[in-house]
Amino acid sequence: AYNYMFQNPLPIPAVAVPEFTETFNGRSVQFYTSTVEPFTKQVYPNLGPAHMTGYNGTAPGPTYLIPRGTETIIRYLNKGDVSAAVHLHGSYTHSVWDGWASDEVQVGQWKDYYYPNSETARPIWYHDHAYGHTASDAYYGQAGVYIITDSAEDVLGLPSGKYDVPLTLADKKYQSNGDLASPNGNPINFFGDILEVNGQPWPYMSVEPRKYRFRLFDMSLSRMYDVYFADNSGNWIPFQVIGSDSGLFGSPVSTSDVLISMGERYEVVFDFSKYAGQNITLGNNNQQQQIQEYANTNKLMKFVVGNSVSDNSNNGDVPSVLNGNIQWPAQRTVVDHTFNFQMGGESTWTINGVDFNDVNNRILARPPQGTVQLWELHHTGGPAVHPVHVHLVNLQVVSRTGGSRGVLPYEAAGLKDVVLLEPGETVRVLAYFGPENGVYMFHCHNLIHEDHTMMDAFNVTYLQD
Ligand code: C2O
Ligand code: CU
Repeated sequence: AYNYMFQNPLPIPAVAVPEFTETFNGRSVQFYTSTVEPFTKQVYPNLGPAHMTGYNGTAPGPTYLIPRGTETIIRYLNKGDVSAAVHLHGSYTHSVWDGWASDEVQVGQWKDYYYPNSETARPIWYHDHAYGHTASDAYYGQAGVYIITDSAEDVLGLPSGKYDVPLTLADKKYQSNGDLASPNGNPINFFGDILEVNGQPWPYMSVEPRKYRFRLFDMSLSRMYDVYFADNSGNWIPFQVIGSDSGLFGSPVSTSDVLISMGERYEVVFDFSKYAGQNITLGNNNQQQQIQEYANTNKLMKFVVGNSVSDNSNNGDVPSVLNGNIQWPAQRTVVDHTFNFQMGGESTWTINGVDFNDVNNRILARPPQGTVQLWELHHTGGPAVHPVHVHLVNLQVVSRTGGSRGVLPYEAAGLKDVVLLEPGETVRVLAYFGPENGVYMFHCHNLIHEDHTMMDAFNVTYLQD
């Protein structure tokens, strides 16, 4: 048991600082170094430390705050214990720097990754993607936040600075000596009994009675969450969802809970102004039957609301129009590809019967660069959910059938790069295949399933005109 709930403040990961910036022909390029290195963290005050490995010896790693169009080169130096392959999840990265699972940086080596950061403002993230041990690498600390900002978003007056807070969600298990328990050994799911936000079990955050922007990231291996805000009497308080994986929605969506699965992001604005002097709980109401719940997995953290506001700027109503520039793919009704997410055997998972080890067959689609395709994703059975992540592209979730619900309002309000596929469901997604060409991965973002080869590839083919 963990007896220190709501006793430790929410950690805010440090913002990454470039070592230097160069300007070439009006292009600004920032250079960073990030070292994958082991470190220890005292999670239980009276027990031994937890052994972890993270970027610059922290977990979550440093937060990158990058203005759109500022290019970055990040040197990843591997001083960990195993090979590494970092992936910037949700970015328009050329395939050479996309963290292809077997493009591993061996221990003692380094690789420079180039990111154009040409995306509009959005909350993306980075994590290890090494072949066969992505789940344990992410679990032991190799994951962090990477936010693209832009001027179109800056003028909206959304809560910013200390009122704009990333909340990374993950579940862990600890041994009786205070060290982390391994997530390995179960090919189906990993569910921890300890819920952490920004790496701290059940933290609290002191807030002012005003609006905040929270950027939610589900960095768990197998656990999804239904997140809500509740007052002292347990009543759920409505809030606004303003964006998801690929940035701001056209208009905010009001809700009293948001379902977030592994790899997904949602951005919300919550208004504490009516709760001065009270506590607000960030709860988890997950109803998915196969998820293992424990005594305290129904809550995530607590907000302690103070009595005064130190800065009232960017505290107005959320604009009713947030983003007039969503690049929806051209509509298309013919299904180009059908992908079955299925059990492959005792301990493997596949897409259309093909696993990532099948090097001759694992390219399952060849969309020409610049075209739109409609993909149909089928969950063919078994209780585990499959959040499907497609690298490089933005997905429009077109339909969800076969289960208990359709497309949720906040799934339809913007573009995404992960879509949840639950038992019995068929989900259709549209995507524009660009801006890069090359071979990219797509996979289940239950990282246990990914490692057990529920991952394949597509080739955005280059056509000469
Ligand atoms: Cu977030 Cu291919 O991963
Ligand atoms: Cu899966």
